[in-house]
Amino acid sequence: MSETHSPTGPFSSLRLDERLRDTRLFLSQALRTFHATGSIVPSSGALAHAMAEYVRQRPEPDRPLRILEAGAGTGAISRGIAAAMRPGDTADLVESNPEFAAYVEGLLETDPVMSRVSDSTRVHAKLVNDMGTDRSYDVIVSGLPFANFGVDAVREILDYYFEVLEPGGTLSFYGYLYTKEVKAVIARREDYLRQARTSWLVQDRIDRYGIGSEKVFANIPPAWVHHLRKPEKNA
Ligand SMILES: C[S@@+](CC[C@H](N)C(=O)[O-])C[C@H]1O[C@@H](n2cnc3c(N)ncnc32)[C@H](O)[C@@H]1O
Repeated sequence: MSETHSPTGPFSSLRLDERLRDTRLFLSQALRTFHATGSIVPSSGALAHAMAEYVRQRPEPDRPLRILEAGAGTGAISRGIAAAMRPGDTADLVESNPEFAAYVEGLLETDPVMSRVSDSTRVHAKLVNDMGTDRSYDVIVSGLPFANFGVDAVREILDYYFEVLEPGGTLSFYGYLYTKEVKAVIARREDYLRQARTSWLVQDRIDRYGIGSEKVFANIPPAWVHHLRKPEKNA
């Protein structure tokens, strides 16, 4: 499955000054720690909409969802998730950068889309795999920049997601288009090889568990969104 999204969704309702405030904070943190941040601007409304696909699309419409977002940043994708949440759903928003985590905590009070779900949403200022395994989720939405990480770190994170995901639950994540091609030209050899190993691992998981991928051109840079499903116990 492959489709292109237009820039719609909760982000498009942000005022210009709110959008600039998000972008300024994001850029300042990206300059400080690009390895963990992985981008220089927050995701677009179109990418947030695509990433929240399985919060909208529910196998059992009356059963509330337990949602985990990893790498909330300045809340661009959290807004897409919040817009799709229904009464009874709960969400854990995890963010390792304390400045971003505090910012998203503030959005739960001030942002019109996020404040709708403030009673059922918690922000955790920590690494996602420090959340522990005494919990489980129906939907995981990951904004972590896998392309910046080593293969062992990505394996650990993907294994964690599949451990806390309920059978039949979904994992959605994105990567930027053409990263490998750009790195082939500009990156040092060891960085290119590190990223190639990481992308082989990610592709292997997509091949095994993928249920759909879509290109989102209305994002800087354009992105590939991948949706994976954990097999049912007896599958
Ligand atoms: C590419 S940014 C995405 C931010 C936001 N979701 C968006 O789309 O605009 C990745 C975010 O993940 C956070 N991060 C990186 N590694 C993490 C980890 N292991 N656990 C939790 N957050 C992490 C970074 O601090 C950064 O805010």
